[in-house]
Amino acid sequence: MSDQYSKGLEGVVADETSICNVEGDVGRLSYRGYPIEELVTLSFTRVMWLVLFGELPTNAQETSLENFLKINGAVATNELDTLNSLPRDLHSMRMLQSMIPLLDTKPVGPKELPFDNDEGYNGLAVVAKIPTLLAAFYRLQNNDAIPAYNGSKAYLDNFLSMFLGQDANPEHVRYLEQLQILQLEHSFNAGTFTCRVTASTLAPVESALSSAVGALYGKLHGGADEAALNEAIKVGSPEKAKAYVQDLLANKGRLMGMGHREYKKLDPRAAILKSMAECLCKGTEYENVFLTLKEIEKEFNAEMQKKGKEVWANLEFYKGPVNLAIGIPAPYFTAGFAMSRSVGWLAHFLESRVDNRIMRPSALYVGPAIRSL
Ligand code: ACO
Repeated sequence: MSDQYSKGLEGVVADETSICNVEGDVGRLSYRGYPIEELVTLSFTRVMWLVLFGELPTNAQETSLENFLKINGAVATNELDTLNSLPRDLHSMRMLQSMIPLLDTKPVGPKELPFDNDEGYNGLAVVAKIPTLLAAFYRLQNNDAIPAYNGSKAYLDNFLSMFLGQDANPEHVRYLEQLQILQLEHSFNAGTFTCRVTASTLAPVESALSSAVGALYGKLHGGADEAALNEAIKVGSPEKAKAYVQDLLANKGRLMGMGHREYKKLDPRAAILKSMAECLCKGTEYENVFLTLKEIEKEFNAEMQKKGKEVWANLEFYKGPVNLAIGIPAPYFTAGFAMSRSVGWLAHFLESRVDNRIMRPSALYVGPAIRSL
């Protein structure tokens, strides 16, 4: 550890924000001052409005946001042709990062939202189209027809219905709404910071959102959701959890879905997801993977306690069984995360535009001294 720089920017305050507060020392998360435990009782579009515009919407305002998403969520034929030309085995996150800058983001329909400029509408057009892109690519990967876009369905209902190729179970849509609220925003994490760095160069909103998708894909960040589930499947059963954790730690391995730069207590999103996963998986084929994760967590916590380390479950740990139970497979966990987080990224993009300064840190040079050829 150098006293001349902060590796990984740990503890560096890079700017100010009024969007979200992560109070890691007490394990609290709030968007615009409202705790996450209360926000999950609201609709996704209410929380989306709150994060984008700072206050909870009136019913009429929420309807105008819903209408914008419905009208702008359809993906044009030429965009679907591009999607169709991609290799079928491409990961959904690489597809998403590639497709976002190629989208037509000119807003369609009335412009009734309180954005200060067109970039807000362009960014929200991306948010509107992401569910359609994910569902269409998933269906293509399964050799199915691209699903019809239903402009009368609500945002997440339409996503899940298109994704599954049939009308989604309303109870599952509600679970998805809660999952998406939990994933929507988290201050200056790596993906959001990437978005703000790109935004700071005055690059367009589509480029900022696309770069954030790239950062989220890594398994130290959003990609940990898929990795955590795959690990639990490999472990196979709760009885094998203890040996697995001990072996992993003995080999200096990292348990995916555990640990967080900011939280020194349990991530409040993990606590909510754990009880969602328990309810959803009870008596289903996913119960075993949930119970295996639960046992892995117990063993890991015990080991960390012995070492005196504050490493707890994060957002990613219990996301797998929730996603699986509502019909979303592992290769789409992180893309589903990006679908929701794109709202937080857009809020940060717009906030950073108010008083922009290019992000340009310095580096401690440790290469050779000046020399001649
Ligand atoms: N498994 C085992 N040990 C861990 C873990 C883990 N998942 N996470 C942290 N530790 C230990 C480290 O070994 C280290 O121990 P040491 O001080 O004895 O060397 C200590 O805890 C601190 O770890 P750092 O790597 O310094 O923590 P950092 O803040 O740099 O990293 C990170 C945070 C990347 C999230 C880390 O905890 C990790 O790799 N977790 C697994 C991946 C993961 O779940 N990522 C998702 C995070 S949530 C999100 O991004 C949406």
